[in-house]
Amino acid sequence: MDESEGSTTTGRDALLFRLDRLGLLVRSLSSRGRRLASCVPLRPPPAVTLEGLLEEPLRLSPHAYARAEGKIITLEAPGSWARMTFHERSLLPLLYDLAVGRHASQMAAATTEICKEAILAVLALMSRCWLLETTEQEGWSGHDLRFHTRTRWGYARAALGKINPEGEIVAQSAREASAQSIHRLALERPDLPRLLTTDPPYALVSERRQSVRRHGSVPLTSAQLSEFLFRTLCERSGRRPYPSGGACYPLKAYLAVHRCRGVRPGFYSYDSAVHELIFAAEPGHRLDKLLADAASAANVDQRPQVLLVLAARYSHVRRSYGDLSYSLILKEVGAVFQTAMMAAAAMRLATCPLGCGDSVLFSELIGENPHTETSVGELMLGSLD
Ligand SMILES: Cc1cc2nc3c(=O)[nH]c(=O)nc-3n(C[C@H](O)[C@H](O)[C@H](O)COP(=O)(O)O)c2cc1C
Repeated sequence: MDESEGSTTTGRDALLFRLDRLGLLVRSLSSRGRRLASCVPLRPPPAVTLEGLLEEPLRLSPHAYARAEGKIITLEAPGSWARMTFHERSLLPLLYDLAVGRHASQMAAATTEICKEAILAVLALMSRCWLLETTEQEGWSGHDLRFHTRTRWGYARAALGKINPEGEIVAQSAREASAQSIHRLALERPDLPRLLTTDPPYALVSERRQSVRRHGSVPLTSAQLSEFLFRTLCERSGRRPYPSGGACYPLKAYLAVHRCRGVRPGFYSYDSAVHELIFAAEPGHRLDKLLADAASAANVDQRPQVLLVLAARYSHVRRSYGDLSYSLILKEVGAVFQTAMMAAAAMRLATCPLGCGDSVLFSELIGENPHTETSVGELMLGSLD
């Protein structure tokens, strides 16, 4: 090797080192001319890699998941700095062995098609990609961890944020303008100037706000329902009373009306642009179940007078926000909950947000594919005694 070759090699090594430190280098393992597996960084590698001891019986991390990407299998542990790809069919028995829990040497000895050293190297690479169980794993559920790491910055070199700034935001109202007018129930618009002068002060409303699960014996009125919806969800000049990422407003409200003076029982959607209810379904066993589920979530015997169901069209946000979409939707549900509770506190109504609801039942009620529009939040509403 002459001097210039030497300096070229040093320069190349230095570049590779820097690329590796930045997490820009894919490492592949090959054996006898066959590419077996690769380690694909998602961010720069940690200074200290969490490599397990290959002497212990090894297990796959309970958080690890596999999926097909193109024609290769990708293995990933949510939150890890790198994912791994398998290029070789004969590596698949390793997944079985790792589910059962075997020593690295046993796994290496059991694989006939690939040499022992290569299997040990694949296992070491899996450990480097955090795919093996360690004692250091915190108690996250796998799906929560995956959701969290896909919707927060820092975990992966991915564009999270508004991906399509020019993206067309189709206002909810445009879709609803076409809804059949025969099923519409116009709500009386509250007198805003009166509210502005007679409302209790914010500090008092904030002091009053609390979750109330038991409703009064006399149900709320259509005027109260109208005012509550106006204060919480009604659109004025393209804006609503709660904030929305990119002003997308992906949430649409539905009302399961059980007891409300002036509104017959049934399931309604709320057209926030024109402040009207649109009849969606007659009372029946599905509506009953929705209301009974709410009572059970709140641990009360009585069904709520009204159940507000918040639903979202995922695709509506996805166009603009990509992988951030679902987290934005859920944050917005929280914003609506608080706005609704403050409105109810100002009006002396009872509200209680709920932690869960039946999205499949909801989709059956509105006759929509659950992947097109799905319920994402529920809140009980009624009169106070
Ligand atoms: C996201 C969320 C989910 C909730 N889920 C339920 C629920 O399923 N059942 C229930 O009775 N209360 C539920 N609540 C109400 C809380 O229990 C309540 O806010 C908490 O006890 C504090 O009481 P306060 O709202 O009166 O201040 C929920 C509140 C939030 C914000």
